[in-house]
Amino acid sequence: MAEQHNSVRLLQLLSDGAFHSGVELAQALGISRAAVWKQIQVVRDALGLAIISHKAKGYRLSRALELLDDKKIASYLCADAGESIGPISLHFSIDSTNSWLMAQSETEAPSGSVCLAERQTRGRGRHGRTWVSPFGGNIYLSMLWRYAMPMSQLNGISIACGVAVAEALTEFGLSGHALKWPNDLLWRRRKLAGILMEAKGEINGPTSVVVGVGLNTGLDDRQAVEIDQAWASLEQIRDFGEDIRNRVAARLIAHLDRTFKEFPRTGLQPYLQRWADYDLYRGEQVCLKLADNAVCGDYLGLSADGGITILVNGEQCRYSVGEVQLMRPDT
Ligand code: BTN
Repeated sequence: MAEQHNSVRLLQLLSDGAFHSGVELAQALGISRAAVWKQIQVVRDALGLAIISHKAKGYRLSRALELLDDKKIASYLCADAGESIGPISLHFSIDSTNSWLMAQSETEAPSGSVCLAERQTRGRGRHGRTWVSPFGGNIYLSMLWRYAMPMSQLNGISIACGVAVAEALTEFGLSGHALKWPNDLLWRRRKLAGILMEAKGEINGPTSVVVGVGLNTGLDDRQAVEIDQAWASLEQIRDFGEDIRNRVAARLIAHLDRTFKEFPRTGLQPYLQRWADYDLYRGEQVCLKLADNAVCGDYLGLSADGGITILVNGEQCRYSVGEVQLMRPDT
């Protein structure tokens, strides 16, 4: 624990990307210079961060880091617009923010609780895939919501959360992003964010829902070697200014919070209309991968219940599971 505390403090000191001497770091951390050197190795090895050492100048990170900060996130929420948040639990390193919040749902954790992490050691994607989650460069965010109603009355809530993420990014200043059924957020056909919804509850309610958002903000080629599809990150798209991660986290939290509150009253209908604004692939040829086969045809948009409609051999077919592959290549 003391070691983790020192790693956090060390990274806070180094986060500006400037050189800091061993003496300065030792004084700030209240440890010896030899212990600083050891701590630098821990951070390098455990977190995979590139730290440059210079005999005379000391140590610096190869690039500045904007660490997550719950106070900054709270300050970026617009109190005037009634935006508020549940407790934020900020982790330096965690297995998965979704797993953590699903476990918390068994405790007294209130509805609206948020979990954010600097890195995930077992970040999870849909279909049992891994979500690559290196330290300090992206957003790994989960939010818990508790409903009195059964899961069966919450059909389509994952579609609504996709719309919430897309709209949060628009408000943040992004344009040209698209939603791909059921829950991918793409930019120029490259994956920018993914959403993992999980729920548990009793047959007649209550139900706990956890939505997890992985958003690439500063992912680089070195970190992305294990990703087997085209990807994008906010920093590649354009300069969004300072403190991207805390600002975008605040937008995501505000939009998800609103969506979770509104969904039981409005149902899916208004979200289907809003999804259409981000549905850039209508009319395109897609293939839907199912458990043991695939169907291909023209993508016609979403169905009224949040499924996907595809024109297969002249017939409109509706599906509620599967994974969509766009057949037009990346541009
Ligand atoms: C996907 O597109 O496959 C979904 C990816 C979801 C990743 C996020 S990162 C935060 C949360 N914690 C996880 O372990 N997964 C989700």
